[in-house]
Amino acid sequence: MSETVLPALAGATQEAAIVAALGRRAVVLVGMMGAGKSTIGRRMAMRLRLPFIDADHEIEAAAGMSIPDIFEVHGEPHFRDGEARVIARLLEGGPILLATGGGAFMRDDTRQRIHDKAISLWLKADADVILRRVKKRENRPLLKTPDPAGTIARLIEARHPFYEQTDITIDSRDVPHEKIVDEAIVALHEHLFRPHTASALPTPAGDPLSPSL
Ligand code: S3P
Repeated sequence: MSETVLPALAGATQEAAIVAALGRRAVVLVGMMGAGKSTIGRRMAMRLRLPFIDADHEIEAAAGMSIPDIFEVHGEPHFRDGEARVIARLLEGGPILLATGGGAFMRDDTRQRIHDKAISLWLKADADVILRRVKKRENRPLLKTPDPAGTIARLIEARHPFYEQTDITIDSRDVPHEKIVDEAIVALHEHLFRPHTASALPTPAGDPLSPSL
């Protein structure tokens, strides 16, 4: 279910330089549920004139069912395997702006693939921002717990060491979306044009909350 978005502004040199420097690589947005990956991703894609793809939507399309239903009928490990396969396939398809589900980057093979084939950008949001945003919808099976705030706090603790391995970090906060998009575009440009050495990925301890993570 990919979605090619039309350019908002044509010919912006910074955006054009970014796309040229990406070559075949994707831009992958990483971060907790409610961090704004889809909202910001869609707008970044428009600016960069890249196709925007939401991995969660692709998984739902491939499975023919919603994510809550996949969790309920097949369980989380099945969802995680499908998620890893879908992301691997999408990363082979050339430059895209890919929003990933919050747990995807916890998996070693996916993290390595993103490292090899994409520039990764972590949208980092505070627990209170996340809680406020996820409360608006009932579509996160991991948060169907008696204490969603506690679950979010534990997920943040487990996941941040992994998210910290992304190439770029942007603070996702309650300011106009275009401000976050502007910061992300500038940071992407800086990352791509700053001289830097290749890095290997460290491996922090796994996510104790989730068997497949
Ligand atoms: C998950 C995040 C969700 C979705 C699934 C699991 C997670 O995606 O993939 O419910 O483990 O954090 P979003 O981050 O887009 O909400």
